[in-house]
Amino acid sequence: MKTKILDILYAHQNKYVSGEQMANDLQISRAAISKHIKKLRIEGYSIDSMTNKGYCLQSDNDVLYAPHIQNGLSSLYHQIDIVDDADSTNTAIKHMSSLKEGYVLIANQQTKGKGRNGRSFYSPKQSGIYMSIYLTPTLSMQQSLKITACVSVAIQQAIQKVYGLSAKIKWVNDIMMKDKKIAGILCEASLEMNTATLEYMVVGMGINVHQFEKPKALEGIAGSIEDFTSIKKDRNTLIKEILNTFEYYYQTINNNTFLPIYKEHSYILHQDISIIKQDSVINAKAIDINEDAYLLVRYDDNKIDTLSSGEISIRKK
Ligand code: BTN
Repeated sequence: MKTKILDILYAHQNKYVSGEQMANDLQISRAAISKHIKKLRIEGYSIDSMTNKGYCLQSDNDVLYAPHIQNGLSSLYHQIDIVDDADSTNTAIKHMSSLKEGYVLIANQQTKGKGRNGRSFYSPKQSGIYMSIYLTPTLSMQQSLKITACVSVAIQQAIQKVYGLSAKIKWVNDIMMKDKKIAGILCEASLEMNTATLEYMVVGMGINVHQFEKPKALEGIAGSIEDFTSIKKDRNTLIKEILNTFEYYYQTINNNTFLPIYKEHSYILHQDISIIKQDSVINAKAIDINEDAYLLVRYDDNKIDTLSSGEISIRKK
């Protein structure tokens, strides 16, 4: 019954639906509707009620709700699970068996969120989107960076569409707003050793949506989307937009449709950068991004190098 009531409320989000209409549609009493609404409010749903008008699911309602996300998405995303907390959605997916391409796991918080190069990803409750997708792409290991690029472009475009903000993509896996990191991507793959092709890939993304109290280590480095806009949207809307957009770039990955946008919104292209590899720092200029999403750089001695992600970090100078 809860799902049925939520379906009606979501179908009319930001508008009032009368208790009588809901009761008739669902063949239960108005008192029963009122009881369910009370329970939903306790679960965190933001539902207004008005005499003679009924109930209204507010536009800023921010409870993650899978059927609402899934509604209108293609069959690629055949199952979307939402959990209250996970250690890491990437790790959780890697421990699951018999998954099919397009499975999505979203957590409301992560206790051991993982970032690249062994770093952690701060994932406080109710503040962000912590989401992983299980994929089985027919790509070689060498081409796998293209998936990260597709996700970056999908997040960039979705933020643009939902909030009107023009974020930048910091090769290879960070989304930046005005020098603050607002999102990161961690793709983990299992390799078919004989053919050096991908067996499966877990595509994880962490997006800081609402303002949150930053731990000392993130001060001046991390930000959230809402640090840069007064527009408030529920996370379901952004998730849906990201999944939809990602699907397009993923399905057209062999035509590199992601590449022009990846370059256009690059944070480092044509800039002087520092490349940090283990303990050494090398200065270079970022000159291009190639069809495999590798970064081309020119060192001070004019030598050109092609970088795949590896253990490298990039800093803009
Ligand atoms: C980075 O910034 O280096 C990458 C961060 C990736 C974070 C996401 S949140 C969902 C998924 N689960 C994880 O543990 N990590 C990724």
